[in-house]
Amino acid sequence: MKLFDVYPLYEVTPVKANGVFVYDEKGKKYLDLYGGHAVISVGHSHPHFIRKISRQLRRIAFYSNAVQNPLQEQLASSIGEHSCLHDFKLFLCSTGAEAIENALKLSSFHTGRKKVIAFKGAFHGRTSAAVAVTDNSTINAPLNSQHDVTFLPFNDAEALEKELATKAYCAVIFESIQGVGGLDQPNDSFVIAMDSLCKKYGTALIADEVQSGFGRTGTFFAFQKYPITPHIITMAKGMGNGFPIGGILIHPEIKAKFGMLGTTFGGNHLACAASLAVLDLLKKENLQEKAKEMEAYFREKAAEIPEIKKVKGRGLMLGLEFDFNVGGLRKSLIYDHQIFTGGSSNKKLIRILPPLIVKQIHFDHLFQALKTELKRN
Ligand SMILES: Cc1ncc(COP(=O)(O)O)c(C=O)c1O
Repeated sequence: MKLFDVYPLYEVTPVKANGVFVYDEKGKKYLDLYGGHAVISVGHSHPHFIRKISRQLRRIAFYSNAVQNPLQEQLASSIGEHSCLHDFKLFLCSTGAEAIENALKLSSFHTGRKKVIAFKGAFHGRTSAAVAVTDNSTINAPLNSQHDVTFLPFNDAEALEKELATKAYCAVIFESIQGVGGLDQPNDSFVIAMDSLCKKYGTALIADEVQSGFGRTGTFFAFQKYPITPHIITMAKGMGNGFPIGGILIHPEIKAKFGMLGTTFGGNHLACAASLAVLDLLKKENLQEKAKEMEAYFREKAAEIPEIKKVKGRGLMLGLEFDFNVGGLRKSLIYDHQIFTGGSSNKKLIRILPPLIVKQIHFDHLFQALKTELKRN
């Protein structure tokens, strides 16, 4: 049997990883400034992460959500402590798209409405409602058109109020920093207006933190840069450092009912152990604070290269914008310099989403490689 061919693949086969490096089958070492798409938060194969998962595996790996699982409660209090959102409630699932589905469904249950506002350039996943609120018609199948979604530009509070005033919308969903879209951010004043307009018209505000959450941007959640309180927060990626886990945090105003949400795998023992290990390490190694320090260093180094037109993003969710298509440059970084970077729907942007343990020396390696390549072309 062959694989269903949906991924354009680079000619690299990682078989081992450690810290910020991955190694191929011949032992060649690659610097991972992509983190497997912002997933690797505390570093590849961290000993504490391995120890905690292995210990859990020897006890019990999985049982369904029909029985007590104290690890879920531990995880809820640890996320509460890290995020300071103590009175929110946690529901666990396994992927980012599943977190989005649950967030949208819950908003609809809560408000009794079904329309959603999403933003131009948004990416929220590939399943039913998640892909419908994603601004990319090529990955939406006819089946997904059943959802009633309005796409608005960022920063047009007037257009947003006009829609919300119809009181037909269950949710507004937004990324504080658009990931796949190319690291665009709404204005502070727009985010604050969006928060109060949602409250005024009884619409749930969903902060999609699947990519930006768990300390990556220098605050636990990227939305915490603003004085706002979303109704639902979605999480995944960095939450498990590669172990599949996702979740939503739910405002106390939204009440639970038995059977309203559910999943077989969500919140299983191994997944909880993985995420608890991540949270331990974020605190112990002060990674959230370090993300800010590393951003400052990254910007300083980027300023030395005139071909870089703009540095976008925040913390360790960063982008380098050029005035040409960077496809070839990213290939040279992988094949000639052994550096993984990310792309986005902005073809002029290189995305940098490293493990949060990245050090100055790793960024030095990137900028030296960029200088060499830019001189060559
Ligand atoms: C902001 C955002 N939301 C949701 C998703 C979907 O997550 P997953 O691929 O785990 O389903 C992604 C994935 O890239 C994302 O970047």
